Amino acid sequence: MPQATPSTELAVPVCANGHRASVLDKCAAFTRADELKAAGLYPYLRVIETGQATEVEVDGRPMLMLGSNSYLELTSHPHVKARATRAIEQFGTGCAGSRVLNGTLPLHVELERKLAALVGKAAALVFPTGFQTNQGVVSSLVQRGEHIVADKYIHACILDGAGLSPGHFHRFEHNDTASLEAILAGLPPGAPALVITEGVFSMEGDVCPLPDLVRVSKAYGAQILLDDAHGLGVFGPGGSGTVAHFGLTGEVDLIMGTFSKSLGAIGGFIAGSERVVNYLMHNARPFLFSASASPASVGAVLGALEVMEAEPERIQRLWENARFLKQGLVAQGFDTGLSASPVIPVIVGEFERCLMAWRRLQDLGIFVNPVVPPGVPPQRSLIRISVTAGHTRAQLTRALEAFDQVGHELGIRRRQA
Ligand SMILES: Cc1ncc(COP(=O)(O)O)c(C=O)c1O
Repeated sequence: MPQATPSTELAVPVCANGHRASVLDKCAAFTRADELKAAGLYPYLRVIETGQATEVEVDGRPMLMLGSNSYLELTSHPHVKARATRAIEQFGTGCAGSRVLNGTLPLHVELERKLAALVGKAAALVFPTGFQTNQGVVSSLVQRGEHIVADKYIHACILDGAGLSPGHFHRFEHNDTASLEAILAGLPPGAPALVITEGVFSMEGDVCPLPDLVRVSKAYGAQILLDDAHGLGVFGPGGSGTVAHFGLTGEVDLIMGTFSKSLGAIGGFIAGSERVVNYLMHNARPFLFSASASPASVGAVLGALEVMEAEPERIQRLWENARFLKQGLVAQGFDTGLSASPVIPVIVGEFERCLMAWRRLQDLGIFVNPVVPPGVPPQRSLIRISVTAGHTRAQLTRALEAFDQVGHELGIRRRQA
């Protein structure tokens, strides 16, 4: 049998000498993480040997946790755990399929109804993660010839959603209404536009100027999507979020939230009108083509919503703690930016000094997260602190003492206390 001649169309091009670069070459060349490890300055992937709580164990050492987004301290709440356990007992450990096929349980439907009621919208849709929620909503909603106009500091999942959307992507200066207006004014007349921002910014804990953003967006006929990952459970009556805090529920078209911060689990949701949720349910690819949120997660969030209602003092404690720590840091002369939430940055500036500060805090038993470029702009590296309702005054005082010591050692104060 003669050998078939390979089609030139299908043949893979090769270099003249028969060699080609490997897609894996970059992995061998990527040594930055090894260098930081060798210098003892690698801050990632620490294994926490206990549950998320205010005191954790890392490498057998006790540490004070100030790097968790469990704002209401619900991941270990007995009722939340019992609800998750009950969901597993009733429905098993996984749904083994997408929501649209075999992955919808009564728990998902109940949770969607409760989340919609919490944020004051007609309907809600639960996704497997918060990341997938934004990615799916933005990419499916904004089509060719339409525009995304997003704050410069928005989360990576919105950026990725914008990258997957065939629409045009614009970014306005952080929390700058005039910059938003300049972009909206320059769009082709009549072109649909979705304005996207965050209620509470995840790295520096500052709050968006929602009333002004709404005013400008409405003046130009744009719709608004607010990512409230860090505002839910923290702001608004009963933890209903930043939009309710500003009394703008009727003005903001889409409210997004995650379960991985205040709500003690993993998953995400989008809330809006019935028609919008119906569209997303049939068009958002991460909803269609990813397995549904597990019974344990959904059960835990139902439990978390019940605790939020039954124990409103948690939100009060969270705020008392956040104010106490922030005031202490400011009194010590640290630059805490424009934080107005339980996310408190200590702005250090240089990348290396930030990692050194992280390392010294780690040595002193304080678990915090360094945030360096591209997570923040160059020269704005910071130590990100997140306070929870579970911290005691003694713990927060301990943290302040450690920051004071490290501030002296590394000279990272803005001014002398
Ligand atoms: C502002 C914001 N949006 C979305 C997400 C993604 O949520 P999740 O981690 O629950 O998938 C995060 C998480 O870091 C976030 O901070």
